Amino acid sequence: MRRPIVAGNWKLNGTLDDAEELVVALKNLVKDVEKVDIIIAPPFTVLSIISALLIGTNIKLAAQNMYFENSGAYTGEVSPVMLKDVGCEYVILGHSERRGYFAETSDIVNKKIKSAFANDLTPIMCIGESLEQREADLTFNVIETQLKEGLGGLENELAKNVIVAYEPIWAIGTGKTATKEQAQEVHAFIRGKLNDFFGKDVANAVRILYGGSVKPENVDELMSQKDIDGSLVGGASLKAESFARIVKFQ
Ligand code: 13P
Repeated sequence: MRRPIVAGNWKLNGTLDDAEELVVALKNLVKDVEKVDIIIAPPFTVLSIISALLIGTNIKLAAQNMYFENSGAYTGEVSPVMLKDVGCEYVILGHSERRGYFAETSDIVNKKIKSAFANDLTPIMCIGESLEQREADLTFNVIETQLKEGLGGLENELAKNVIVAYEPIWAIGTGKTATKEQAQEVHAFIRGKLNDFFGKDVANAVRILYGGSVKPENVDELMSQKDIDGSLVGGASLKAESFARIVKFQ
């Protein structure tokens, strides 16, 4: 049995006041939830204050990105050591917005994943195809390549702790969600590839999240699918009520 995860990716949103207000409301709304790992990924600038607000709650902290070096002359970057120091347990890596706007390659993502593990952070690796790739029937090729390159060289005992997020780019921020059948088809493919690369134990253990316009209205049907182990939520994670409803999927 894989324990479900619901993670909120705040992206580039949240001043100190916004963040505090959202977290105070959220922790109250989800305080009785026991069967789900609840994660929020606010921007770097508010991690410290939110980390303090989350002490003693059932909500875990993630960052949205990091560099793969621990320290040094890398102006503007943030390291895994710093994320651990501030109380993060997870880090989102390889989000399509980072791959698309900031030229992150699978090779960089692979280095970041290894560096996250080396610093005791659990990586949430995002993969997903564009609309053009889907229409050209390249979805499975893209997913296989991103998975193979992103996880290349990992030992099995680390690979089983990776969290994979399938986020079709055409469904992100568009209001257009993959149908449960479309999502399940790709999730099953991902699990099959994990089996090919690492074997059955890893494939059965890895939690695969769906992301892309997840909302209170569609979360239940997505979560009814066998290989969908949770969700990575953007826009709907910025409102305490909607994120709490997604956490309490049925
Ligand atoms: P939306 O939920 O806003 O579509 O964003 C999904 C996402 O990119 C989460 O990482």
